[in-house]
Amino acid sequence: MPHGVGAHFYSTLDSTNAFAKEKAEHGERGPIWIVAGEQSAGRGRSGRNWTSLPGNLYCSLLFAPGIAPNDIAPLPFIVALAVRDTFVALGASPEAVQCKWPNDVLLNARKTSGILIESSASGNNIEYLVVGIGMNLMHHPKDAIFPATNFNEVFGNVPDTRTVMVILADKVKKRLDAWTLGHFEPIRTEWLSCAWGIGEKRKIRTSGEEFIGTLIGLNGEGAVNVSLDDGTEKTIYVADIFPSAS
Ligand code: BTN
Repeated sequence: MPHGVGAHFYSTLDSTNAFAKEKAEHGERGPIWIVAGEQSAGRGRSGRNWTSLPGNLYCSLLFAPGIAPNDIAPLPFIVALAVRDTFVALGASPEAVQCKWPNDVLLNARKTSGILIESSASGNNIEYLVVGIGMNLMHHPKDAIFPATNFNEVFGNVPDTRTVMVILADKVKKRLDAWTLGHFEPIRTEWLSCAWGIGEKRKIRTSGEEFIGTLIGLNGEGAVNVSLDDGTEKTIYVADIFPSAS
């Protein structure tokens, strides 16, 4: 693990995010990675389950960066870029690894990693952050709402989860150390340069509607800007994005 960063490995947990939050509620502030060989109640975005069989990587970083809730917008993009760095370090070609809004990482246009960030704030201070990352190394769900894959399916070998964890911890630390508060621009530019679907038509599903639009960029809060066929623009804060023909 990087200098100053702890790690606890468990064979089974309900959810590494839930466990890290429990530790935080008891005063732990990390930085510490919680890693599980499998999860019995893995959490995905929007209250979905994250299927968590042995062989994939399930981990959560608990830390207290001492920032305000308003500063947090770049974090999902920073973490997605660190996951992308990890796949590239494992041998994936940079062109094959894309980031998909809001914080998925794709291999050959299929979801291979998901990120779930949870936080607790008191007034204008983030008390702690839990950055949960799942990386599909050996399995992927066949019934996911967005087509998924796993590292083994794409490359024909299963990387050792501890090796991947060590690489990921290093990439996340490097990206977090390089993060200057208030400077979203370099992160946004890099994320956009490897993002799936930017400049292209996609299907956008929010809690209330589904429509086709062209993804045109990210605003300063990390929301995605979309242009519609009638020439109007929308800013989307919470949604799932799919190929336009799906
Ligand atoms: C998504 O829906 O794409 C986010 C999935 C996040 C899954 C990871 S696995 C490790 C950590 N613990 C959890 O319960 N969820 C995250």
